[in-house]
Amino acid sequence: MLYSKDHASVNELTKKALSILSEIFDKSDSIEIIIVEDDLIVNKNPMREMGIHGDNFVKRIKRKGMSRIHLLKGVTHSELKQFIADIATTTGGIKSYQHIKTGVVDVHIGNVEIDSLNEDFDAEDLSSFTSEQIAKVREEYNKISPFKKLNIAGFEEIVVKFLMMLQKKVNILKLIKPPRSFDQYSYTHATNVAVLTIFQAEVLGLREDMLHDIGIAALLHDVGKLLIPKDGLNKEGSATGEEKIKLHPLYGAQYLANVDGLTRLAPIAAFEHHLRYDGQGYPELKTGNRKQHICSQMIAISDFFDTLRSTSLYRTSLGVKEMISLIRTKDEGAFNPFLVNNFTRAMHLAIS
Ligand SMILES: [Fe+2]
Ligand SMILES: [Fe+2]
Repeated sequence: MLYSKDHASVNELTKKALSILSEIFDKSDSIEIIIVEDDLIVNKNPMREMGIHGDNFVKRIKRKGMSRIHLLKGVTHSELKQFIADIATTTGGIKSYQHIKTGVVDVHIGNVEIDSLNEDFDAEDLSSFTSEQIAKVREEYNKISPFKKLNIAGFEEIVVKFLMMLQKKVNILKLIKPPRSFDQYSYTHATNVAVLTIFQAEVLGLREDMLHDIGIAALLHDVGKLLIPKDGLNKEGSATGEEKIKLHPLYGAQYLANVDGLTRLAPIAAFEHHLRYDGQGYPELKTGNRKQHICSQMIAISDFFDTLRSTSLYRTSLGVKEMISLIRTKDEGAFNPFLVNNFTRAMHLAIS
């Protein structure tokens, strides 16, 4: 045991925790905390930069094999004190109390109950719906120029349409499409990545306004590809095609950082979607301890999935199950393992 429940630091922590909780309880009747690897999601809101106390909390909860904590209004000082003492011990589990329930996160498919996926839409309806959205993405993409500020209204409209389809419990796999031609690739890819990422976020149980922001960020994740100057990038010698393309996260993030009314997630995801979960990937990070935002982590998984799907067009075509197993067996450290689990399990349910 690190310290007993009457130890001064437990008292101190309990007081601090109660004052933070009572502020949240002013606005809500309960607090749901979900732990996704190193991230905390509090009332469906991913928290970032939690500081040393937050990191410690996550580590301790994970050590106890827990990933979901539900705090109900009315939680008492003594319950909280006992709970914090439970977390602080190195042995034993965490008990549930009258106002504190603990457990593990399971794939709960948010509002999408896979069993009751809506089959009212026939394949043709869905195919023309998605084609329409891809055409709109193309229209919006064609307006993009490094010399003009982006107007996000069109992109927002597209995301709202997809959210409406999700509410109607449409099988998400029917909304993603292989690109018909090379010319169509970037619009189809942006649309697929948006749909797949909204799906992941919904399965994770994130709030609807977050789904909207995540959808916009996903639609724009590769926007930097349109903004790379055609001529050489450095004066000494021109950069190779590959070097140039690796700059798209940077160009995208710079461009999106100045757009009015756009969620902060968009420049963050544009910048981070080629980072790996272990901090490798590109652009190389100068500071060692910055980690990828959970939304960028989801976009990275969707991006990989859709790229597999598209490239498999030119090889023997891969089935969804094979793609899922390729994501699962991708080298350790590429993706957040919890999110891979979340994504692949939900995909399995959606196709079975
Ligand atoms: Fe990219
Ligand atoms: Fe991409």
